[in-house]
Amino acid sequence: MIAAQTALAVTGSTGRLGGQVASGLSQLGIDHRLVVRDPAKAPALTGTHIATADYGDAAAVRTALTGAHTVFMVSAAETPGRVRQHVTFIDAAVDAGVQRIVYVSFFGASPTATFTFARDHWATEEHLRAVGVTHTILRDNIYADFTPHFLGTDGNIRGPAGDGRAAVVAQADIAEIAIAVLTSDGRYDGRTLNLTGPATLTMSEIASILSDHLGRTVSYIPETIDEAYASRAIYGAPKWQVDGWVSTYTAIAAGELATVTHDIPEVVGHPARSLEQVLAATDSAG
Ligand SMILES: NC(=O)c1ccc[n+]([C@@H]2O[C@H](COP(=O)([O-])OP(=O)(O)OC[C@H]3O[C@@H](n4cnc5c(N)ncnc54)[C@H](OP(=O)(O)O)[C@@H]3O)[C@@H](O)[C@H]2O)c1
Repeated sequence: MIAAQTALAVTGSTGRLGGQVASGLSQLGIDHRLVVRDPAKAPALTGTHIATADYGDAAAVRTALTGAHTVFMVSAAETPGRVRQHVTFIDAAVDAGVQRIVYVSFFGASPTATFTFARDHWATEEHLRAVGVTHTILRDNIYADFTPHFLGTDGNIRGPAGDGRAAVVAQADIAEIAIAVLTSDGRYDGRTLNLTGPATLTMSEIASILSDHLGRTVSYIPETIDEAYASRAIYGAPKWQVDGWVSTYTAIAAGELATVTHDIPEVVGHPARSLEQVLAATDSAG
């Protein structure tokens, strides 16, 4: 049984990134609280206890975070109310006495980013700066782990990415970075870390790597923007969501994700994982 008032809180542990951070901390013997929406989904990890809160529920967040010093904040699922949820969470965290927030943002976050969801991240970053709470921002490129989700219903990749490139990054590397930052006694306070894979890849190159991984041919079929909206109409998704999906590709076309940085090797002391390594690890994990 651990103390109810652990100083470190981790959100998103029912998901992929937060789950890796929580299990990594647990393996290091670092007690922490898991702030989750549904306790039934929380991972069973040594040295953790559960607190329940949705980001948009200020009272629940205050209760969940009372006594916490540092919070790892995974960005919420994409919804029209996402920035409001983030603002509510940050304000309630500060009210609860939280001193430090490590926030998972997106590469090139800006009010004018082509990728529409990156604008949410900019707004959240701005709120962290405005509130004045000590923070570290992890600006992640597209997750390499996410590239299999690029495949459409026919098993190919379609989108208006042209010949643009992205430096896709492993969630395992982001989790290592997060753990290094959360356990660093403030060395990264005030820093924005720009987190990328080791190489920039075109969509054709990503398709080729996925082909090798899956043992079948995956093609990249470039679309115009109009074609991209038309081919996604079958999902019946709202416009804000389709805008997000399509602008993932137009951001690549615009070159906004095509920079390799050295923050991962500098912080964790090894090269960033390649897309091939990420896919191979998926295989070995079953
Ligand atoms: N860089 C990229 O390529 C990329 C791609 C996709 C997503 N993202 C962003 O990166 C985040 C982490 O990625 P992931 O793969 O770990 O996503 P994931 O597996 O979907 O996990 C998201 C986690 O956030 C929690 N969450 C979502 N909305 C919340 C809210 N309003 N209040 C409290 N908790 C909430 C979820 O809880 P529940 O289990 O209760 O839903 C889950 O634990 C995503 O949430 C998304 O914002 C980035």
